[in-house]
Amino acid sequence: MGKAMRLHWLLLGACGWVLLILMFVSKIISFRAVDDYGGQSWTVPGTKVVKPIPVSSPEKPAPKPSDKPSEAPTATDWQAVVDRRAELLSAVCKNSSFTNLTHVSISKFVLDRIFVCDKHKILFCQTPKVGNTQWKKVLIVLNGAFPNVEEIPEDIVHHHDKNGLPRLSSLTPQEITHRLNTYFKFFIVRDPFERLISAFKDKFVKNPRFEPWYKHDIAPAIIRKYRKSHRDSEHAASGLHFDDFVRYLGDVEGRQRMDRQFGEHIIHWVTYAELCAPCEIHYSVVGHHETLEQDAPHILKAAGIDQLVSYPAIPPGITRYNRTKVEQYFSGISKRDIRRLYARYQGDFHLFGYPSPDFLLN
Ligand SMILES: *[C@@H]1O[C@H](CO)[C@@H](O)[C@H](O)[C@H]1NC(C)=O
Ligand SMILES: *[C@@H]1O[C@H](CO)[C@@H](O)[C@H](O)[C@H]1NC(C)=O
Ligand SMILES: *[C@@H]1O[C@H](CO)[C@@H](O)[C@H](O)[C@H]1NC(C)=O
Repeated sequence: MGKAMRLHWLLLGACGWVLLILMFVSKIISFRAVDDYGGQSWTVPGTKVVKPIPVSSPEKPAPKPSDKPSEAPTATDWQAVVDRRAELLSAVCKNSSFTNLTHVSISKFVLDRIFVCDKHKILFCQTPKVGNTQWKKVLIVLNGAFPNVEEIPEDIVHHHDKNGLPRLSSLTPQEITHRLNTYFKFFIVRDPFERLISAFKDKFVKNPRFEPWYKHDIAPAIIRKYRKSHRDSEHAASGLHFDDFVRYLGDVEGRQRMDRQFGEHIIHWVTYAELCAPCEIHYSVVGHHETLEQDAPHILKAAGIDQLVSYPAIPPGITRYNRTKVEQYFSGISKRDIRRLYARYQGDFHLFGYPSPDFLLN
């Protein structure tokens, strides 16, 4: 009897431990999912609806978090937001003060960024660090290679010869022109400086997808050219710093040759204008990462595919602009370097209605 009782308690204790470990592991996993944002891990199986939640956006004062769902913007309100953004984009494209920063040619580099869904007549320009992997999955499913988002293996998402999601650059000039003129076209942007921070963290600090060339080739090249002091050897061993990165990004002339050497990898930090040519290609919608909860369903509806697919569930808070984080990253960086960076990226700030980061510039 006593033995059985001991066994009973032992089992109970073991279960408790297993539970604790499971809770801990799930904490780590959900933390990782948030951190690897833009990467793999936030597909939540079985989610059909993306519920609109009010979120703060740089162009509108943050609405107070409210538990009354009736305060969520309606579809018509959102169409008005999308229309305002389109008007702004068009005005900035016409403004000659920004010509250098907003106009690019529709080069092979741009055509490489755009993915084609012929079945539903959709073009999607890929802009990293805004959850674009999720959009690719949505389009792969629409093209028919896989029955649903959950069944796409992670290694296939970026394999464009295997996943049935061709690049626009793989088509003939006539085919390209036809699609540019008639298809639904969209891409997603986010606050330009927060995007650069996200790219820096993802490629040079964490590198979760094991892409060794960022730390082994690109970082040393940037450090050689842009690190202020090379004397501090212990410093040099610690990899690329954000201030090296900022000086490199802000050096309009000097970085051109390096960027050619870096090849496609620069997609993580060249401007949205350079990636998608929004003044040359008349996009149907430019969504904002900060308001993805509203933009994702709006885009699916506008593209006529909302009955066929849904955007994977967006973890709460993940898309919100975090000024504290931006301040932290730029806190050790000279005004001169920040102003040069802004000069390089202000086309993106203006085109997409992001307020200039005066708290950093002045
Ligand atoms: C172009 O942009 C500048 C700087 O924001 C602004 O002062 C000017 O009024 C704009 N011009 C037009 C024609 O909108
Ligand atoms: C555009 O770029 C050229 C060459 O880089 C430069 O000389 C010119 O001042 C720039 N124009 C504006 C309006 O920034
Ligand atoms: C904003 O960023 C700071 C610094 O990285 C972090 O401590 C904080 O938790 C973030 N806030 C939110 C709401 O995510």
